Amino acid sequence: MGESARSLALAALVRIDHEGAYANLVLPAMLSRSTLSDADRRFATELVYGTTRMRRACDALVDRFVMSEPDATTRTLLRLGAYQLAFAKVAPHAAVSATVDLASRKTSGFVNAVLRKVSTKDMVWGSEATRLSYPDWITELFARECGDEAVEALERMNRAPSVTTRDDGYVQDESSQWVAAAVGATSGETVLDVCAGPGGKATALVASGARVIGADLQPSRAGLVAKNAERLGRRLPVVVSDASQPAFAPRAFDRVLVDAPCSGLGALRRRADARWRITESDLDDLVSIQRRALAASAELVRPGGALVYSVCTITAAESIEHAVPDGFDVVGRDGDDFFPPLGAEWRPFGHGHRVLPHHADTDGMVIIRYRRRKGA
Ligand SMILES: C[S@@+](CC[C@H](N)C(=O)[O-])C[C@H]1O[C@@H](n2cnc3c(N)ncnc32)[C@H](O)[C@@H]1O
Repeated sequence: MGESARSLALAALVRIDHEGAYANLVLPAMLSRSTLSDADRRFATELVYGTTRMRRACDALVDRFVMSEPDATTRTLLRLGAYQLAFAKVAPHAAVSATVDLASRKTSGFVNAVLRKVSTKDMVWGSEATRLSYPDWITELFARECGDEAVEALERMNRAPSVTTRDDGYVQDESSQWVAAAVGATSGETVLDVCAGPGGKATALVASGARVIGADLQPSRAGLVAKNAERLGRRLPVVVSDASQPAFAPRAFDRVLVDAPCSGLGALRRRADARWRITESDLDDLVSIQRRALAASAELVRPGGALVYSVCTITAAESIEHAVPDGFDVVGRDGDDFFPPLGAEWRPFGHGHRVLPHHADTDGMVIIRYRRRKGA
């Protein structure tokens, strides 16, 4: 049988489900080798990312009718079929028959029987976490962190992200554009982005006319900053440097941005498989990296200068629970003579501000802006 959107999706999903492949690496690689039409590429993309996000819900739909665990490929094929039936609005007949066509001769009768039942029997979800298709710990964490808004935030991250493109052609989520604008960099200032890879915010900062330096711990990420700056025709020197032990002189910068490595729990719609990879204990490691990066970066800010901390997550532990650096004041939503005001999408969150995915159809983010006292 020739290649189809579904056969490509199945091949990608088998690698993601059972070989640990990253969805956002394996799918583009397969698409680049394929001869599918644009419409089929879009469909294959929706199938791969959607089935990956909704894996737990798809398994629950299927497991009602499965008595013993099928082989790995059949498990993935059943997920793919259930996704089309329950979430992709594919007509039941087409979803079942086109999915059964991908089954082996030995399993096609079984796949057909299970998917037909999935398509006709109403579902009673065992839990909210299953219905929403997240690990229990993420659902519980959102309930603690976002209260009444948790379900809406989680539901929004089950949808494909909206694509926003800057005036210069760089594709960047709107929330990241807001963070770059909130740094308030102006012409002639010297600005450091200590966690710059792949360069989205750093290249936006250069547009302000400030002299910007990008730094990143990982040489490959620093390389991406340089590549993106070159592509956009922006002057942006890049340094490989650890934000917790920075290779820069103290008090040398007007503004420092710490767009810290984080759990990414606000951006789960962007990385379909991330929810199945990240663990609660990863958060503890990230929190200590963030604390050290924030404290060390504060040293680089000149008296009267700006320190901005941002993360694409929604947790207090990764943001507002970090200590305010000594000698710094927190600047609120209205800004001051040095910071522009924040948009209304940013809701107060402790001493910082947070946007949740469903507020404005962006990634979830936290931002905290500090200013070093003149005499400090
Ligand atoms: C959230 S991403 C930054 C995104 C970037 N600011 C943008 O807008 O495109 C975090 C970055 O921090 C880098 N990183 C992780 N630990 C670091 C450290 N100790 N020092 C500097 N960079 C670090 C990662 O390699 C990653 O590129």
